Amino acid sequence: MSEQTTKRPIIFSGIQPSGSITLGNYIGAIRNFVLLEKDYDCLFCVVDLHALTTRRIPADLRRQTLELAALYIACGLDPKKNIIYCQSHVPEHAELAWILNCYTYMGELGRMTQFKDKSARHKDNINAGLFTYPTLMAADILLYQTNLVPVGADQKQHLELSRDIAERFNGLYSDTFVIPEPYIPKATAKVYSLTEPERKMSKSDAEDSYIALLDKPDAIRRKFRRAVTDSEANICFDPEHQPGVSNLLSILSALGEGSVQSLVEGFEGKGYGELKDRTAETVITKLQPIQAEFERLMKDKTYLAQVLKENAARAQAQARRTLRKVYKKVGLYQL
Ligand code: TYM
Repeated sequence: MSEQTTKRPIIFSGIQPSGSITLGNYIGAIRNFVLLEKDYDCLFCVVDLHALTTRRIPADLRRQTLELAALYIACGLDPKKNIIYCQSHVPEHAELAWILNCYTYMGELGRMTQFKDKSARHKDNINAGLFTYPTLMAADILLYQTNLVPVGADQKQHLELSRDIAERFNGLYSDTFVIPEPYIPKATAKVYSLTEPERKMSKSDAEDSYIALLDKPDAIRRKFRRAVTDSEANICFDPEHQPGVSNLLSILSALGEGSVQSLVEGFEGKGYGELKDRTAETVITKLQPIQAEFERLMKDKTYLAQVLKENAARAQAQARRTLRKVYKKVGLYQL
């Protein structure tokens, strides 16, 4: 953040470095980040502490953390204009999360649908971190006095809890946190799985169900060709009855191929094969420059490490201010 821009509203968002970053993450989140950097002071975080809530192979987590930082930049986020950094490099996130845990109720955390989903899927590892995940997310956001949080629709409930926690804390101790607003552009709020189009596209599902940002053209063509559609043989936008076809139309539209309505008109009388091929080719064309830039950046790990180091220091300077205020308000004896 430059000196003359410090009065601009603040944006915070994060992505977990778990598995491959998907087209859902791109359309639902990263793509919107790029549009915001000119009007806001933005922090984009690689939330590696969050990724520990499911079992990770340490070497993979390390690699995916650096890859996600490179992807942020490759997608067009300028690390000089935005703060792109890694959550564990700014320990204030974990410190504030502890405090907020003491102002969050078990009942609230138990109602989180992501907790219910994830604990159903990882029955052998329902750990306390998975349960308190939303308080760490609230800490991420509240540490920076964030005004706006761009996320996909699946994060809305977590964001509402962050607001509740902030309001509760402000109510008890006088104004401390800015109350963050969600920013969820409707048209791109949710990209669905290619194999189960009623579910969101997720990096934790089977590989054929999602497009990874780093997928090669052949894999992208194969996955779209196998995408589940229906037997209507009619290209309509009807998410309830034709979720697979509607998902492909939404993806095309989100990638700049016109409104859903104009796409439906253009596909009149055409088959699903054509819709799938057009979607695949559009995605390949869109991802090609991102992948090329990613490859280039990954060859320069020294540069990436330097960016992460400098940006963590910028983030920490701000985080420290909020945390000191919080410690003081709750009555921790400060030296
Ligand atoms: P994560 O890592 O699951 O996803 C990162 C971002 O991508 C969006 N997203 C999607 N959008 C549309 N369609 C999809 N299929 C899709 N899948 C994922 C998510 O909504 C998210 O915006 N808890 C967060 C990470 C986080 C965070 C934060 C976000 C931690 N702290 C603070 C914002 C602010 C998560 O698991 O996102």
